[in-house]
Amino acid sequence: MAASLQTIHDLTNFTTEQSFKINSLPVLGAEIVNIDLGRVLNENDFLRIKQALLSHHVLVFRDQDITPEQHIEFSRLFGPLQIHVLKQFQLPGYPEVLTISNIKENDKPIGLGDAGAFWHSDLSYKEIPSLGSLLYARQLPAEGGDTHFADMHLAWQTLPTHLKNAIEGKQAEHTYIKKYAELQARSPWRPNLTQAQLEEVKPVVHPVVTRHPETGLNTLFVNENFTSRIIGLPQDESDDLLAQLFAHSVKPENVYIHQWQDNDLVFWDNRSVIHLAAGTPDHLPRKLYRTTVEGTRPVAA
Ligand code: SIN
Repeated sequence: MAASLQTIHDLTNFTTEQSFKINSLPVLGAEIVNIDLGRVLNENDFLRIKQALLSHHVLVFRDQDITPEQHIEFSRLFGPLQIHVLKQFQLPGYPEVLTISNIKENDKPIGLGDAGAFWHSDLSYKEIPSLGSLLYARQLPAEGGDTHFADMHLAWQTLPTHLKNAIEGKQAEHTYIKKYAELQARSPWRPNLTQAQLEEVKPVVHPVVTRHPETGLNTLFVNENFTSRIIGLPQDESDDLLAQLFAHSVKPENVYIHQWQDNDLVFWDNRSVIHLAAGTPDHLPRKLYRTTVEGTRPVAA
């Protein structure tokens, strides 16, 4: 983060502050209005946004009109960007931007239509998972298409004692391919992974309870999409324990449901929340662009 602060300092000596408002949303998250992310940010504005992300975990920037270059530039203020393994779904000319869309052109999908079909934290299957993701709505369906966010700090805080005891000091395996075959069965357009892609997403191990690197808060760091087993437990016991953790994490009182508005850009902290794309009827086009900021290696609480 120090490098990006230096960058923004260099860039913003001559820019004026924007008078944006930060309004809390129910359960978690905040809406930010009256800001133009296409403008070079003043250092104070950047620090307010960074602090708001740490406090609210999900930020909804309304009414953005930005180019892919501006989306990338704003995202890079928070760290280097990660490139998704499914390179087929990059926005042409912008490898840092993943297209999430159910639209097909010439019978070929232009994006990852079923991204987020299971609860997950983006890129938890990497040695260095993501700090956060920035998803920008470009075309929204008339119905459906919501994104749900669950607060994993709250999930940890409210976890029953017997489950806290069961996971104390434990580590878990995360793998990109955990649900891949199931997703392919539902979405036959999903490409087979090449050997090179498989090499890129070898299983990794992370602590089950991590400490947020910036706030120091404990987080339950497991998710249905990518967490495949708890190390050291027989598979049936691990499956049972993980199922209880997954169910607890997404209780309605932990969840904010984002109903997208045109030109929303939503920035979430993958170290604090997991998310789910609730689904869109096939015949209603939906297209969003996502950048993913690299985080740090998860550390045990
Ligand atoms: C994602 O998992 O990044 C996609 C979420 C969505 O499409 O709502």
